[in-house]
Amino acid sequence: MHQGWKTQNIVVTGAASGLGRALCARFADLEASVRGIDINKSQLDEMRAALGENFLPVICDVANWEEVADVFARLPPADVLVNSAGITGQTNLKSDETDPRDVERVFRINFFGSYHTSKAVLPQMVKRRYGRLLHIASIAGKEGNAGMLAYSASKAAVIGMTKVQGKEVAGTGVTVNALAPAVIRTPMVAGLPEQQVKYMTDKIPMGRCGTLDELVAMVEFIVSPACGFTTGFTFDLSGGRATY
Ligand SMILES: NC(=O)c1ccc[n+]([C@@H]2O[C@H](COP(=O)([O-])OP(=O)(O)OC[C@H]3O[C@@H](n4cnc5c(N)ncnc54)[C@H](O)[C@@H]3O)[C@@H](O)[C@H]2O)c1
Repeated sequence: MHQGWKTQNIVVTGAASGLGRALCARFADLEASVRGIDINKSQLDEMRAALGENFLPVICDVANWEEVADVFARLPPADVLVNSAGITGQTNLKSDETDPRDVERVFRINFFGSYHTSKAVLPQMVKRRYGRLLHIASIAGKEGNAGMLAYSASKAAVIGMTKVQGKEVAGTGVTVNALAPAVIRTPMVAGLPEQQVKYMTDKIPMGRCGTLDELVAMVEFIVSPACGFTTGFTFDLSGGRATY
C-alpha cells in the first residue's frame, strides 16, 4: 500500500540542473524528503531557496567512491535513488579522434558515478526490503550516436549494470531500472555542437524533443511502489527512436 510520497526519502544525483532539477522540484512539491546531490553548490543553494525545507542540498562528486561512501553513510536510508549526474564529454568527433583522457572522464562520471551510488545504496535497500533505483541512461547507449563514443559507450555500460543489478536484487522488494531518453532541451543539450543536436533530433520519429514534464511523469511511475514487477529494464522515452 503506497503511504504517499510524504514518507519517502528520495535521493537524486545531478540535482542542480536539467532532468535532476525537474525531478527534485516535483518530489519536493509532493512533499517527499528530497536530497539533491551535485557538485554545483551555487545552483543547489538556489534550489534550496526556491523549493524550501523538503529539499536538502548535498555536495558530492559522484565520480569519487570515498566521497560517495562517506555521504551515503550519513544520509537517512533512501527509498528512491535516481542517478541523473552525467556529462557528454567531447562530441562531434570520430572514435579515432577522441582523447583517451576525455573518454575516461566521461566514464568516471556516467558509469562509475552511478556504480558508486548504487554500491552505497543497494545494501541499505535490500536490508529494508524496499527500494527503487533508477539510472538515467540514454538512447545513445542503446543505439550508439556517431560522434559520441564516450557518451554512448558509458551509457551502454549503465544499461548493462542495470540488467545485472536488477537480477541480483530481484525478489528483495528492490527494483533497479534505467531510462533511455532521446533529446530533452536542458543545459547539457545547449552545450552540444548544433550539428550533433541536429543528428540526434533528426532521428526522432515524432519529430520533436521530449519534455521535462514527460520525463518527470515517467520517472514518478517507475520509482513508485506501483511499479513493482519490472526490474533490470531500460524504459524508453525516445519519441519512437528505440526499436528494442
Ligand atoms: N537532456 C537530454 O536530452 C538527455 C538525454 C538522454 C540522457 N540524458 C541524461 O540525463 C542525465 C541528466 O542530463 P541533463 O540534460 O539534465 O544534464 P545537465 O548538464 O543539465 O545536468 C547534469 C548535472 O549533473 C551534475 N554533475 C556533473 N558531474 C557531476 C559529478 N561528478 N558529481 C555530481 N554531479 C555532477 C552537473 O553539475 C549538472 O548539475 C545525464 O545522465 C544525461 O546523460 C539527458
